[in-house]
Amino acid sequence: MRLKPEQLDRFQRDGFLTLPGLFSAKEVALMRARLPRLFAERVPENFREKASDVVRTAMGLHLRDDVYARVVRHPRLVDPAMQILGDDRLYVQQAKVNAKEAFTGEQWQWHYDFATHHHEDGVKKPLALNLHIFLDEVTEFNGPLIFIRGSHRNGPAPTALDLVSTSYPLWTVGNDTVARLVAEGGMEAPKGPPGTALIFGDIMVHGSPANMSPHPRSIFSLILNPVGNAQTRFKRPDHQHHRDFTPVTPLGDDCLAMESAAA
Ligand code: SIN
Ligand code: MN
Repeated sequence: MRLKPEQLDRFQRDGFLTLPGLFSAKEVALMRARLPRLFAERVPENFREKASDVVRTAMGLHLRDDVYARVVRHPRLVDPAMQILGDDRLYVQQAKVNAKEAFTGEQWQWHYDFATHHHEDGVKKPLALNLHIFLDEVTEFNGPLIFIRGSHRNGPAPTALDLVSTSYPLWTVGNDTVARLVAEGGMEAPKGPPGTALIFGDIMVHGSPANMSPHPRSIFSLILNPVGNAQTRFKRPDHQHHRDFTPVTPLGDDCLAMESAAA
């Protein structure tokens, strides 16, 4: 699959790109069907919300489940990433589902991913791409990601480590910087039915509010990083930044079409 020139232009201009209907209802059903078993596991890969026992993010999924082992090699994710980066040697840095359950899903503070990749993992350049697939309908009510349009253009913003707001340590962007960037570019919260995909870069400032609605909002997230830009510090566990730098090879477009969700 190749992105069109106007899609590449929009990605370069705004810093993110929405791809409606990239995955079918059947493919999403297959991915969703694996979540109850994965979320039920008491393992370090499952981070739970600060105020409840509910899973906030479930990591290392391609090593824990055969469907997600295929999703991380799906050509509808891998091909656009290779095209944007002009590099076909990308490794799976992270593969997770951010659950944000109904009523209990907590916020993700304003941040950009490279701050954590750089400070924690010694990644040198903000090249990694974050590729999302909505596994639930994402609405204005259930905690959508909010992007600050164009916030990727002026280089990495100042950050500070926040260990208190949620259960997940995050290098975050302060309110003054957020206010300045929003004044320049405005905000946008991509919404859409299950199967919608999103691509954004490593210094794109984003966050998401708590889910106070009765509707869950699970999103699959794959981070692909060029092998030549791999982590140089190995402080975090493998599931937060995988140490297998073998380049991913895309599978066939029908790699999720071979079985039913009931598998
Ligand atoms: C993230 O920024 O990694 C998570 C955002 C979200 O799931 O809302
Ligand atoms: Mn993020």
